[in-house]
Amino acid sequence: MAINHLAIIMDGNGRWAKQRNQPRTFGHQAGVKSVRNTIKAAISHGISYLSLFAFSSENWNRPQKEVSRLMDLFIKSIDKETPELNTQGVKLNFIGDLNRFSDVLQNKMHAAAAQEPVQHRLIVNIAVNYGGQWDIVQAARKAAIQMLNQGLATEDLDQIWFQQHLMLSDQPAVDILIRTGGEYRISNFLLWQSAYAELFFEDVLWPDFDEQCLQSVLDQYEMRDRRFGRISE
Ligand code: FPP
Repeated sequence: MAINHLAIIMDGNGRWAKQRNQPRTFGHQAGVKSVRNTIKAAISHGISYLSLFAFSSENWNRPQKEVSRLMDLFIKSIDKETPELNTQGVKLNFIGDLNRFSDVLQNKMHAAAAQEPVQHRLIVNIAVNYGGQWDIVQAARKAAIQMLNQGLATEDLDQIWFQQHLMLSDQPAVDILIRTGGEYRISNFLLWQSAYAELFFEDVLWPDFDEQCLQSVLDQYEMRDRRFGRISE
């Protein structure tokens, strides 16, 4: 079965660090390595879109020190990884309400997203200050504005209109949604886009997620019967 779009909730960095008596940031740093490896593996499997939940709108509630270290890590990772990713054919895309980030980080995100790889192989969507409910609300606000100012009719407001005004409007729906770290929640990730995704909840902590873990998910996915509400035959 074709996999166009793989989405991952990368959970378990903090616990991974705690198991090693290290600060939580140590786990996030190790998580960057898993991001790098997963991008490589996604390319080798011919996946076209990879969405990663890097920072939810709720993550601002973490201790201020952890949030600021994560912001530093985002800045460093963008600086360090973008050129190599572009060489590999990766186009970066940041989704979420970016306005809340520092000017420095916003500028880095915009600059990284503006880089065009010579050959397009994989689009990596990094979700930051993102929430699936926020995404739906921002589309609904656009609808309200178009109704007030541009004559959008109620009957024109259908699933297709909505799809076209959400983040990732030009991308296929999520085929596989993986959450690492042993919790069974979607935690407000791509709610609309994952409506028919196959869900995989893995016990492995994100820094330990490797190519074998991904292969195991892909093998199980092949065994699943995606019916999209229809019957098999
Ligand atoms: C969840 O683990 C992880 C995060 C909130 C941050 C994710 C960030 C990275 C993997 C690194 C940077 C990524 C990019 C794309 C540059 P947790 O802290 O909730 O772990 P816990 O559940 O064990 O506490």
